[in-house]
Amino acid sequence: MTERTLVLIKPDGVARAVVGEIISRIERKGLSLVALQLTTVSDEVARGHYAEHAEKPFFPSLLEFITSGPLVAAVVEGPRAIAAFRQLAGGTDPVEKAVPGTIRGDFALETQNNLVHGSDSPESAEREIALWFPGLS
Ligand code: CMP
Repeated sequence: MTERTLVLIKPDGVARAVVGEIISRIERKGLSLVALQLTTVSDEVARGHYAEHAEKPFFPSLLEFITSGPLVAAVVEGPRAIAAFRQLAGGTDPVEKAVPGTIRGDFALETQNNLVHGSDSPESAEREIALWFPGLS
């Protein structure tokens, strides 16, 4: 079944100039870009995006990081797009969980600065797409 997921290439990905590499991996997998935007996210949208982590000890640092510079937000579509992108991304911890061959496994070292975000469920995808791309139908 075709579904949509919200992908972020976080500020570390833009700063390290791996945006093209990451988008290329998404396209090579067979997923399609539906929307794509380079933007510096407001504190308000960042808090909304990461609301489920508001009580975590790393939340202030995560907010500072995600608002620190331009990032790429994208809506990605395809069969099982949510799971497919999470497979491409690899586990949250780029060293302990993400294996080589994945985006985080190949290019990241830190759990916070882990290059990409992908929605983790259809409910999260719907909420995140509405937050980042309110005009998208
Ligand atoms: P993401 O997939 O965007 O979802 C939540 C983000 O919080 C995660 O990627 C990391 O950037 C960050 N994160 C998760 N766990 C930790 C942690 N233990 N320490 C620091 N940052 C974390």
